[in-house]
Amino acid sequence: MTDTLTPVLTAQWDQPDAFTLAGYRRAGGYQGLPKALSMGPDAVIAAVKESGLRGRGGAGFPTGMKWSFIPQGDGKPHYLTVNADESEPGTCKDVPLMMANPHALIEGAIITSFAIRAGHAFIYVRGEVLHVIRRLQAAVAEAYEAGYLGTDILGSGYGLELVVHAGAGAYICGEETALLTSLEGYRGLPRNRPPFPAVEGLYASPTVINNTETIASVPSIIANGAQWFSGLGTEKSKGYGIFSLSGHVANPGQFEAPLGITLRELLDLAGGVRAGHRLKFWTPGGSSTPILTDAHLDVPLDFEGVAGARSMLGTRALQIFDETTCAVRAALRWTEFYQHESCGKCTPCREGTYWMVRVLERLEHGEGSEDDLEKLLDICDNIVGRAFCALGDGAAAPVQSTIQFFRDEFLQHQKEGGCPFDPAASTLWANGAR
Ligand SMILES: Cc1cc2nc3c(=O)[nH]c(=O)nc-3n(C[C@H](O)[C@H](O)[C@H](O)COP(=O)(O)O)c2cc1C
Ligand code: SF4
Repeated sequence: MTDTLTPVLTAQWDQPDAFTLAGYRRAGGYQGLPKALSMGPDAVIAAVKESGLRGRGGAGFPTGMKWSFIPQGDGKPHYLTVNADESEPGTCKDVPLMMANPHALIEGAIITSFAIRAGHAFIYVRGEVLHVIRRLQAAVAEAYEAGYLGTDILGSGYGLELVVHAGAGAYICGEETALLTSLEGYRGLPRNRPPFPAVEGLYASPTVINNTETIASVPSIIANGAQWFSGLGTEKSKGYGIFSLSGHVANPGQFEAPLGITLRELLDLAGGVRAGHRLKFWTPGGSSTPILTDAHLDVPLDFEGVAGARSMLGTRALQIFDETTCAVRAALRWTEFYQHESCGKCTPCREGTYWMVRVLERLEHGEGSEDDLEKLLDICDNIVGRAFCALGDGAAAPVQSTIQFFRDEFLQHQKEGGCPFDPAASTLWANGAR
């Protein structure tokens, strides 16, 4: 473990032309691609396996292993789909990455498609970020112009068509099977598994789905070597990642560091919690990862370390909340999000998120009772492991963990007949949002 930053994907973000082909090339970009083409598909997959890269979209599945599940010689078309839907509250790494460094993603998509023998790749971007979609489209056009896309890439005989697809702004479309359904033109609902996408994905053909940051990390692995990447990070969580600090922090932003760095170290780099305040709770990886408190400042932020603290590394979206924040209000706000985004396909999540919002509203306004806490936990028990997709488990996580750490605060609302916190004291609500 190390406490220093390791800018790779973010290294050129302050350069005015970092997003252009010329800027990317000047910084050493498009050096992994010719190397990958000369290595051959199987050697590329082996290198990514050896690097230890694990998915950066939340679950941390080994990337090279995922690619190796694609059947070879099956005569079917293969597809790569990049998940750029990024809609989890707190998660904000893929959007700036695509704005500042779109060619890292494009080069990664070409190398990955070559490795899995795909002739078509898609980048599925959440529809609201029109500026990102435009930037990606411009970068893709540059890559075609330069011969990195299209037929016979760099004279290798390999060809790839890359399409930037805009979603319509639904969180559920970030779930990989809902994303595929949406990309096919249907309403984005999750699919049953098996069959897994590697066997029957887009258009019922073998498909790899990876997060934006996962794919953008591939060129650096091929260019610098698997051992360079596996030399960073911790024993089972290799490499670097983008940590996004937001909320009550002096200098919020993106901090690219080896996995295993701690929140204490990151807060030092970000100037600490906002002046005059102290840390109350935080999310390690977005709102669907159980909250942690100031007792967890030294937890190594890798997959194993955060799991050991009974949460999840998720997308490394570190939302920082100081002592002015009402934990009940935060749980309510997150649950309102999940209720809104529940696709309604399965009963535990559809009904459970609806009722959790009703009960949390009661509690926040001092009209609840201690029994309501048991009711909330019971609803969570009926969602976790019983919902059709992981959105349900994600909805239960903030509620369960907030009750675990702040039970007394829930009861204080009841005693005082309302919320004891002044919403104006927390800048998070200062923009007029509830
Ligand atoms: C409700 C929901 C939303 C998700 N949203 C995203 C997302 O926006 N981006 C993403 O990469 N993964 C998202 N995921 C995880 C994907 O299903 C999938 O695991 C991931 O794209 C795999 O890529 P990786 O192996 O590179 O991490 C979401 C999962 C769920 C259940
Ligand atoms: S868990 Fe929620 S989002 Fe997932 S399928 Fe069920 S209703 Fe839809």
